[in-house]
Amino acid sequence: MKKWQISIALLAIICITMGATTTKAPDEGFKNLQILPKDISEKELHNVMREYSLSLGVRCGFCHARVADSTKKELDFASDAKDEKKIARHMMQMTAYLNSNYFNFNNSTKPDTIHMIMCYTCHRGTQQPDGKSSRAQLDTLMMKMQQQMHKKQQ
Ligand code: HEC
Ligand code: HEC
Repeated sequence: MKKWQISIALLAIICITMGATTTKAPDEGFKNLQILPKDISEKELHNVMREYSLSLGVRCGFCHARVADSTKKELDFASDAKDEKKIARHMMQMTAYLNSNYFNFNNSTKPDTIHMIMCYTCHRGTQQPDGKSSRAQLDTLMMKMQQQMHKKQQ
């Protein structure tokens, strides 16, 4: 094969694999999405999950239970065994409600597309934003703000 023929062959393979990941058969999709759109792409879902993990400062296993076979370390993403996942759904609904009722600039109701209020807005990298860990951070912030106000007055 000539060089250009190889390039075209490679391009064709890339296009076929890309097509395969974006146009998934319905039975290969996610099994237990109750809030996110059921036709969400794998890439989008992964971005949402990464955002949740970073916002709370946790790993996937904080919300997702392990598979039943205890010799394996894999997670069963579709399982609802962990309370954290159920609380997260509740939080997603609350966040979507705040966005669609108070920041509904585009009249969109999709929880994965409106980003005025995000998990990070409250969580700031902590699991429980009302907990002691963030209180210390807030105290430091408040102190800085007071110092700044004091400087302005002088
Ligand atoms: C703060 C909790 C939380 C964290 C952390 C989290 N997830 Fe999720 N995840 C959820 C919730 C809640 C759902 C279900 C959403 C729904 O019902 O629409 C979900 C759904 C999923 C699904 C779809 C499963 C199915 O078939 O229904 C996958 C895959 C997934 N998460 C992967 C991940 C990965 C990978 C990570 C780590 C990068 C991660 N999650 C981190 C809460 C979390
Ligand atoms: C308006 C503020 C706010 C927003 C926005 C918010 N949370 Fe929370 N979240 C909290 C507070 C406060 C707590 C602690 C509640 C408690 O301790 O009873 C909490 C607790 C949680 C918990 C339980 C943590 C634990 O240790 O048990 C999970 C999981 C969670 N949030 C996920 C999320 C996710 C995912 C999002 C974004 C979709 C989100 N939260 C958005 C305020 C918020």
